[in-house]
Amino acid sequence: MKVLIATEKPFAPAAVQGITSELKNAGHEVVLLEKYTEKGQLLDAVKDADAMIVRSDKITPEVLDAAKQLKIVVRAGAGYDSIDTAYAKGKNVVVENTPGQNSNAVAELVFGMLVYAVRNFFNGKAGTELKGKKLGILAFGNVGRNVARIAKGFDMDVYAYDAFCPADAIEAAGVHAAKSQEDLFKTCDVLSLHIPATPQTVKSIDYRLVNLLPKKGILVNTARKEVINEEELLKLMAEREDLKFITDIKPDADEEFKKFEGRYFSTPKKMGAQTAEANTNAGIAAARQINAFFATGDTKFQVNK
Ligand code: 3PG
Repeated sequence: MKVLIATEKPFAPAAVQGITSELKNAGHEVVLLEKYTEKGQLLDAVKDADAMIVRSDKITPEVLDAAKQLKIVVRAGAGYDSIDTAYAKGKNVVVENTPGQNSNAVAELVFGMLVYAVRNFFNGKAGTELKGKKLGILAFGNVGRNVARIAKGFDMDVYAYDAFCPADAIEAAGVHAAKSQEDLFKTCDVLSLHIPATPQTVKSIDYRLVNLLPKKGILVNTARKEVINEEELLKLMAEREDLKFITDIKPDADEEFKKFEGRYFSTPKKMGAQTAEANTNAGIAAARQINAFFATGDTKFQVNK
């Protein structure tokens, strides 16, 4: 089978090597399309692919229509909002993800950005420490759980809320369970977002919710830009000079957020999962899932059943 690795944002070279040898050892042919800049390059490359490994690459109906032989797409990562899963299902294309494989990398970046923020973006002025501060984790999935683990090392007081995870499962992980999203925002000095982008969560992080943060609150986003109501957050940051917003996903209104100098930071490109380890874990998991699919029809990680 021909397996296309299509990554606009490339994996680390070690990961590409590992993925390639997993697939080749199983008898598959591997084609690599990295750093493509035109949609046409992707449309051309998918034409004769039987399987694909992607990251946040947009797998639209146009791409799926061009991929006449495609049977499976594996998103090497957690969030699959960049793939039209329903359209793929209609074309009998299996869509899978690789949950948990890159979550430590994202969680570590939360703290990299947080230390940077509480130390005033390293401008030389006295900042604050994380120790003893209340950290709120919105969604207690693989990333949220890693954030909780690392936060305890910083001696933070950790809270979480997850609409799909019962309070006792949160408490069992040694984390305080907030009663609601509102309760979490009201309680915590630092609020870290780990919700996926779904019709229910898009623009859900709005004026009303963020305004519940205590004085000097910090909002950290390593999830998806779509979950933020940018217009309302801009309005709130203009009103509340104590708030900070740090994000690993550049907002559409980046230029406007930049006006809040000393209170806003965005990475130039989403860096959460961009480590050799995360790329290798997620990429090799994707390759193995493709091998298992072709060998035995295994669809354990299918997200469009
Ligand atoms: C994910 O959903 O797995 C993360 O957001 C990482 O995405 P990336 O592979 O595009 O960096």
